[in-house]
Amino acid sequence: MKLLIVSDIHGNLHALESVIKKVPYDALICCGDLVVDYPFPEQCINTAKNAVTYICSGNNDYVVAHDRKASEFLREKYAHYAEALDRATDLTRKLITDESKRYLAGLPRECEFALDGISFYMNHTVPRMSLHHYLDLNTPLKELTAYYEGIRAEVLLTGHTHVPYAKKLGNKILVNPGSVGEPRDRDPRPSFATFDTTTGQIQLGRIEYDTAETTRVLKELNFPNYSLFCLRNGYLPDDPGEA
Ligand SMILES: [Fe+2]
Repeated sequence: MKLLIVSDIHGNLHALESVIKKVPYDALICCGDLVVDYPFPEQCINTAKNAVTYICSGNNDYVVAHDRKASEFLREKYAHYAEALDRATDLTRKLITDESKRYLAGLPRECEFALDGISFYMNHTVPRMSLHHYLDLNTPLKELTAYYEGIRAEVLLTGHTHVPYAKKLGNKILVNPGSVGEPRDRDPRPSFATFDTTTGQIQLGRIEYDTAETTRVLKELNFPNYSLFCLRNGYLPDDPGEA
C-alpha cells in the first residue's frame, strides 16, 4: 500500500489538487492545517472530507473552528504579524460554511492507526504539547525522542513547521511532509511524503503547479501580502511589511 502524507494545506486548493492528482496513492493522510492564508478553505475542507483516510487538527483549524484570534498564540518573534494573521483568519471564517466549521472543530488532536501491520502516530506538533507549540528545526534528536516517549507506534507523523524531513528516532521514524499550500523552506513547490508499507521506503517529494488563479483571488479578496510573498518565494519575510 502506498500512503500519500500531506500537511499544512492552508486553503491552497490548487496545490492540494496537483499533489493528489499527480502522486499515485492508496490512502491519503493529512497532518492538519487545512485552512488559513490562502483563499479556498471551503474547497480544501470538502476535498479532504472526500479523500483523506486519517486526518488530525492543526493550530489554524482550531483557531478558525473555535472563533479564536491567531494572534493570541503568536510566538514573540512574529508579534508584528498579529494584524495580518488575524485578517487571514477572519477572511477564512467568512469563506467556510457552518458545517465546515463543525468539521474543523471535530478533527482529532492526534491519531493512532495501523495499516498493513505498521503502526502510526500522528499529531500536528508533538505529543502532550499545545497545537501551537513550535519545535525548532534544530531540536536535537535526543530532545525529539523524549517528546515521543511512551508512544509505541513505529512511524511518527507531524507537520506545523512547513519544512519537510524524515529523521530516525531510535527504532522509530519521524516524518514531516512539509507543507502543500505554504512551503517555508525557500522552495515554493508543494511538498509531500510517500510511504510504501511493503518496502518501508519513505520519500519526500515536490511538484510544480499553476499559481495564477490563487494569485488572482488572493488579490481580489485582499488577503495579507505575506500569502502572496510565500506563494512566490517559499518563505515568510521576517516582517510582513517586507512582503
Ligand atoms: Fe501550518
